Amino acid sequence: MKKLVVVFLVLVSINTFSQKFEGLAETPPLGWNSWNTFATDINEELVKGIADKFIELGLKDAGYEYIVLDDGWMAKERDANGNLIADPVKFPNGMKALADYIHSKGLKFGIYNCAGSKTCGGYPGSRGFEYQDARLYASWDVDYLKYDWCNTEKLNAEGAYMTMRDALKKAGRPIVFSICEWGDNEPWKWAKDVGHAWRVTGDIINCWDCEIGHGSWSSRGVWKIINLREDIRKFAGPGHWNDYDMMEVGNGMTDAEDRSHFAMWSMLASPLIMGNDLRTASKETVKTLANKEVIAVNQDKLGIQGFRFSNENNFEIWLKPLEKDAWAMTFVNMSDETKSIDFDWIKHGFGDDLNGKWVDLKQQKFSIRDLYNHKNLGDTSSNLKAEIGSHDVLMIKMVKK
Ligand code: GAL
Repeated sequence: MKKLVVVFLVLVSINTFSQKFEGLAETPPLGWNSWNTFATDINEELVKGIADKFIELGLKDAGYEYIVLDDGWMAKERDANGNLIADPVKFPNGMKALADYIHSKGLKFGIYNCAGSKTCGGYPGSRGFEYQDARLYASWDVDYLKYDWCNTEKLNAEGAYMTMRDALKKAGRPIVFSICEWGDNEPWKWAKDVGHAWRVTGDIINCWDCEIGHGSWSSRGVWKIINLREDIRKFAGPGHWNDYDMMEVGNGMTDAEDRSHFAMWSMLASPLIMGNDLRTASKETVKTLANKEVIAVNQDKLGIQGFRFSNENNFEIWLKPLEKDAWAMTFVNMSDETKSIDFDWIKHGFGDDLNGKWVDLKQQKFSIRDLYNHKNLGDTSSNLKAEIGSHDVLMIKMVKK
């Protein structure tokens, strides 16, 4: 009997201390991260300014929540007690004061570190300090941790991320745990119970379909990233997402390309983490990022990642099953010129094998809503006709009639 009690207690304690915080990121996280635009050139004024813009531009109202400081927020050395310290020049009032400011706006605060001895930018990493760092983040009221993979030598990825997960759990504050090991160790296969999202590739770059090699890794544009990870949709769901990287909307692609990029990240149920300078964003950029109808596709409660339906005649067509038997459908014009679609619903019919969802368009009609132009486009009893500009998108929601 005694033995049984001991086994029971051990099981209870393993259960208590070795699982991620549940109930977080039930839909993909929405937010902003400093890296794509600012790299390590970040400071308190910038971050406060971004928080202010969340409110002013209606981004908070559209659902964006997390403001995440990426690499470069720390001083180059830990203090005498081994604690991380905020860079005193960039963040003169420290991290708790910044967290308080962000929280006072009704937003949440995220921070970055790395599983290795140093971060990718050469700042102190968490290796060997996981529990101490987790306690510190909790004391600063951090809500989100992005955890990178530089300088990890022969560390085992699953083990290293489990250690940090356990440290966060032990520290006791619910913190979204965002795994960033670039898809190198196929985290979709093991990270469901470790983190809330995992990066699936190396770093994104602000181009439509380019790839730039850096020796051991490449930066990839929007379509290179999408095409690299085609077969992992079954691993994503509420609380555990495939992360296609911070967005490049507003960072130099055309407005049409930005719309397509945003539509695709929404179809893929990826975290929507803005990566542009919101203080100087154009009207068109804000219009794209704050589009509630598109965001609703990303945030759909079913949490099913979309999939490629077809790729013909220069059109990528993607589908995503939504709640209440609705669907999102996205047509992207991949060509260099404006093209028309004349889409015959009856001829096509569609469904999602993985989730056992099928639609018989002979029996069932759907109404069609254009999510970028905020217009109703009739229903599926007649062909869907539209002109779509080069690299632009028609994104629709179909609701059962
Ligand atoms: C990379 C990561 C980027 C950014 C950068 C910071 O490994 O993929 O998103 O965090 O490190 O140094």
